[in-house]
Amino acid sequence: MTQQDTHIPVMLAEVLSTLMPSPPRDAAVATPARYCDATFGGGGYAAAILAAAPRCTLWAIDRDPDAIARGAALAARFPGRLHLVEGRFGEMIALLAGHGVTALDGVVMDLGVSSFQLDQAERGFSFRADGPLDMRMEKAGRSAAELVNTLPEPELAEILATFGEERHARRIARAIVAARRAAPIATTGRLAEIVRAAAPRDPSGIDTATRSFQALRIAVNDELGEIERGLAAAARLLAPGGRLVVVAFHSLEDRIVKRFMADAAGRGAGGASRHDPAALAAPRAPASAFRLLTPRALRPGAAETDRNPRARSARLRALERLALPATPATPSVAA
Ligand SMILES: C[S@@+](CC[C@H](N)C(=O)[O-])C[C@H]1O[C@@H](n2cnc3c(N)ncnc32)[C@H](O)[C@@H]1O
Repeated sequence: MTQQDTHIPVMLAEVLSTLMPSPPRDAAVATPARYCDATFGGGGYAAAILAAAPRCTLWAIDRDPDAIARGAALAARFPGRLHLVEGRFGEMIALLAGHGVTALDGVVMDLGVSSFQLDQAERGFSFRADGPLDMRMEKAGRSAAELVNTLPEPELAEILATFGEERHARRIARAIVAARRAAPIATTGRLAEIVRAAAPRDPSGIDTATRSFQALRIAVNDELGEIERGLAAAARLLAPGGRLVVVAFHSLEDRIVKRFMADAAGRGAGGASRHDPAALAAPRAPASAFRLLTPRALRPGAAETDRNPRARSARLRALERLALPATPATPSVAA
């Protein structure tokens, strides 16, 4: 089996135990649970949820048409219980409303790209295999080649610095603009060579092209905007007791998830603190509609990272909607 034949689900045991505290919600309540896997990918989470809660129904979203097409086999294994929905999780409310779903008992999000996407050279995500410089998860819109060949140098540098946290962003942007004058940059291999020649080797040993590729991928797919919209949508859809479980892979993603969940649970920067006497003296803030289940992010165990190096940077955070009436404490997320 080649790598691209599979995607090993990351932190699967932790995702399940956080989403469905034992005994599974399914068995404990009269109405079967409704879940959403907002990042279906290879269906690893979806299959495990469907097996763990035998009466539940699951709506699985992915913006990648290939992922949705691959999912047909899994849907056939769970007749009437797995519904595949092509689209962006930032539009989850409208996508699920189209299926008559307006409330959920749980949402899982496994951010980033799948091994299927990374390992298929023709999708253009990887600097390890030469392919067309594409990186579009949904195979539509502006490709990475369009960005690197058309954006003004300062905008390119801004993307590399912001989404790649690349210290040598300006040098790399200058090199890209010089190279594209000679000939348009059409392949991942050529872009990787340009970046490697422009920036010094990373002392950590990671490939010099890593940060630039991450930055372009995030820009092409508006990944951070999607995460913000997806988190807000998921929180709005949660029924009382419903849980949102998110696995993030790099600090830009995780920062957004951490801040969103802290704010929703009333623990954000704006909340009262014992280090801030003025805030303590102020009238009590209204109770939050959410409870933070992970004051600290969960990390994968050593056995998992040995087996699957891709899991190394994973961080799991989770939130639960309380069985309280919604309050104005979190206006951006309270339903
Ligand atoms: C890490 S993989 C998920 C793997 C999955 N948990 C499994 O076990 O097989 C992430 C998937 O999310 C999809 N994705 C990323 N951003 C998305 C978005 N904004 N909306 C919908 N799908 C998205 C990608 O296309 C990819 O298939």
